[in-house]
Amino acid sequence: MLKGSFPVEKFGGLRTPFYYYDLRLLRRTLETIRSCTEAIPEFKVHYAVKANANPVLLAEIAAGGLGADCVSGGEIRAAVEAGFRPGDIVYAGVGKSDAEILLALETGISRFNVESAAELEVISELAAAAGKKAPVSLRINPDIGAHTHSNITTGLAENKFGINYEQMEDVLRMALELPGVEYKGLHFHIGSQILDMMDFVALCNRVNSLVDELTRAGLPVGDINVGGGLGVSYEHPNLLPVPDFKSYFETFRRHLRLPAGTCVHFELGRSVVAQCGSLISRVLYVKQGTTKQFAVVDGSMTELIRPALYKAYHRIENLSSEGPEEIYDVVGPVCESSDVFLKAAHLNKCSRGDLLAIRSAGAYGEAMASRYNCRPLPEAYYDR
Ligand code: LLP
Repeated sequence: MLKGSFPVEKFGGLRTPFYYYDLRLLRRTLETIRSCTEAIPEFKVHYAVKANANPVLLAEIAAGGLGADCVSGGEIRAAVEAGFRPGDIVYAGVGKSDAEILLALETGISRFNVESAAELEVISELAAAAGKKAPVSLRINPDIGAHTHSNITTGLAENKFGINYEQMEDVLRMALELPGVEYKGLHFHIGSQILDMMDFVALCNRVNSLVDELTRAGLPVGDINVGGGLGVSYEHPNLLPVPDFKSYFETFRRHLRLPAGTCVHFELGRSVVAQCGSLISRVLYVKQGTTKQFAVVDGSMTELIRPALYKAYHRIENLSSEGPEEIYDVVGPVCESSDVFLKAAHLNKCSRGDLLAIRSAGAYGEAMASRYNCRPLPEAYYDR
């Protein structure tokens, strides 16, 4: 079985489960993003901090030249601490609290992505009271469904996110009039783990027609933020360690008609960090059932909840064995029947003490870890 290369000899003294981060792969990924966008100065790439806010990764990403896309006051703080410049931080979220809005104003972030007329009024009030003008973009719901899991599709009309597109002109006029805000542009996001570039073409076409509408109505457009969503290969992390950024950026270059003097902002999360992370877990027991066998491991849904929450597939490799392949259900110790990493996994023969790598876990893994069952939060090992 094709496996990733892991410095297993260094894992001996580490307490499992832990996150293994390949920082060289992360740098290679950042370098690819840079090389795909350096010739297009109007493309500004932000990293969606929600995918993984580990400070070591954040510092690499800031040093790699990306801006930050934050969804809470905590993420804004983490981004600034990691070295992102406030002028490169955008802030989205359907429920920004007053304290978070004030923190963002104080920090001097570059953009509030506003999700409702009600929020726009509050931001204006708070900013005006502080003698400031908050830079705002309006998050418009483009009513486009990406072909991905229903829990991670965000651009459909019935989602909680964004301003309905029928209300766009009214809210934009409001933004132009309110004293505490300065209108800067439009924001969109259609979903996550998108591999079909036609979904992004559909987004571009929708944005182009909205821009035409606004222009006809004599309204300004400003910058366009197209959100994130580029997917990764969960099936073949060894063959496709770096996502297809070339096709992704090329799609927007070809299909988005940019008004003169404006920029396109991207908010990529998963595609930046997924492949550089693996959850390393130890086999505790091989348990024989009546019709199948289980590899019971010490990692669980509290370190990586994606399989339990979305039925997401993560490839698993046995790093300690070259024995013949056998079929196992790989399960964790948490008292939930959904605490299963993978059913019918093909693994080299497992024995107690073997180390398993659960791959492509750098995005929405550590960031979504919990302390359920009073389990400790996972630690991390960095391959520099
Ligand atoms: N921008 C906005 C407004 C978003 O809502 C998201 C993700 C992103 C950017 C980054 O999207 P990405 O490039 O990572 O696809 N926990 C789920 C994914 C939730 C995504 C939420 N929004 C998972 O584990 O699959």
